[in-house]
Amino acid sequence: MTAVKDGIAPHGGTLINRLASAEQKQDFLSKADSLPEVTLDERAASDLVMIAIGGFSPLTGFMTQADYEPVVTDMRLASGLPWSVPVTLSVSEAVAEPLQIGQLVRLNDDKGRFIGVLELSEKYTYDKKKEAINVYRTDEDKHPGVKVVYDQGPINLAGDIWLLERDAHPLFPTYQIDPAVSRQQFRDRGWKTIVGFQTRNPIHRAHEYIQKCALETVDGLFLHPLVGATKSDDIPADVRMRCYEIMMEHYFPQDRVILAINPSAMRYAGPREAIFHALIRKNYGCTHFIVGRDHAGVGDYYGTYDAQAIFDEFEPAELGITPMKFEHAFYCKRTSTMATTKTSPSTPEERIHLSGTKVRGLLREGKLPPPEFSRPEVAAELAKAMHQS
Ligand code: ADX
Repeated sequence: MTAVKDGIAPHGGTLINRLASAEQKQDFLSKADSLPEVTLDERAASDLVMIAIGGFSPLTGFMTQADYEPVVTDMRLASGLPWSVPVTLSVSEAVAEPLQIGQLVRLNDDKGRFIGVLELSEKYTYDKKKEAINVYRTDEDKHPGVKVVYDQGPINLAGDIWLLERDAHPLFPTYQIDPAVSRQQFRDRGWKTIVGFQTRNPIHRAHEYIQKCALETVDGLFLHPLVGATKSDDIPADVRMRCYEIMMEHYFPQDRVILAINPSAMRYAGPREAIFHALIRKNYGCTHFIVGRDHAGVGDYYGTYDAQAIFDEFEPAELGITPMKFEHAFYCKRTSTMATTKTSPSTPEERIHLSGTKVRGLLREGKLPPPEFSRPEVAAELAKAMHQS
């Protein structure tokens, strides 16, 4: 991937902005009482935001069937542009039935707040099992992403959207950096090459190791934890962000790292989601994207490096962002460093790698994860959070 003077092009060439102008907003508000209403769940509400701020460029709304079908089967939009995960607004038949094509639909959040507008262009049914098998590689409802698909309504509503207002994030206002702003920040810092990092877990030493290995070869690191909907046993976003703040304070060079939140929801689609995550970071202005072991995976649904292999199914130029692939990292007792089997001569017994589940187990027993796994300040923060919950 070549870095260009004004930054890397967004996916599809244009950074989408679907924020209603003051005039549009006034117009929508004046019609509010006469519009039919649809309530968005947490994921759809975050998708609405991501579309509006350009994080999902080139999408300008919820997917039409012409985009949805090839996304499911071939990982491409109707235009042929790579896109790996459906972005749909799925509702019940009862909700869909009275809506007329061409109508403006008022989109409410789950508290009944008027947050956006959909210009309804299409209503279509879809095959949930086909979506599950293609996107998630399983039709088991134990898979948290598949469960969401099975639980959602059978009709997709498609059409362009507008977001009425970009509210400050209630918990992380200073880290709410939208794509237009991150791109400006990269330019202001003179960064030509930027590596993005996706995460939904508290930062541990293996994360830090691959982040810093990547940073050795590029100008800047964009730490971009996902703070949208996650499954219930994942560590809450506020705890994870506090861990990142600690890392920024003690362990990262502040002039080479930007911490920002990714408002979108986890899908747990493993390989497909790795492509999706990379395209989102491209829209934020990253030229590179870290893909480690079992990226966006859950349980045993995906092979350790499936999320890396999937990048080979595309021409590098059509993705337009370069994956930086890392093997499973661990603490090597022989060399007293973080390492992978590419760099460490250790035997398996000489390696410390703890899973998130093991760490949660330790914390529950009142024990701190060891310094080979977690920086002590982060371990203390996790223990504190565990105590309070
Ligand atoms: S994810 O669902 O967002 O992928 P997580 O926060 O655990 O989960 O991982 C963030 C990134 O770090 C992913 O690219 C993942 O592959 C990578 N990663 C996590 N742990 C390791 C490890 N021990 N070795 C190498 N890569 C890792």
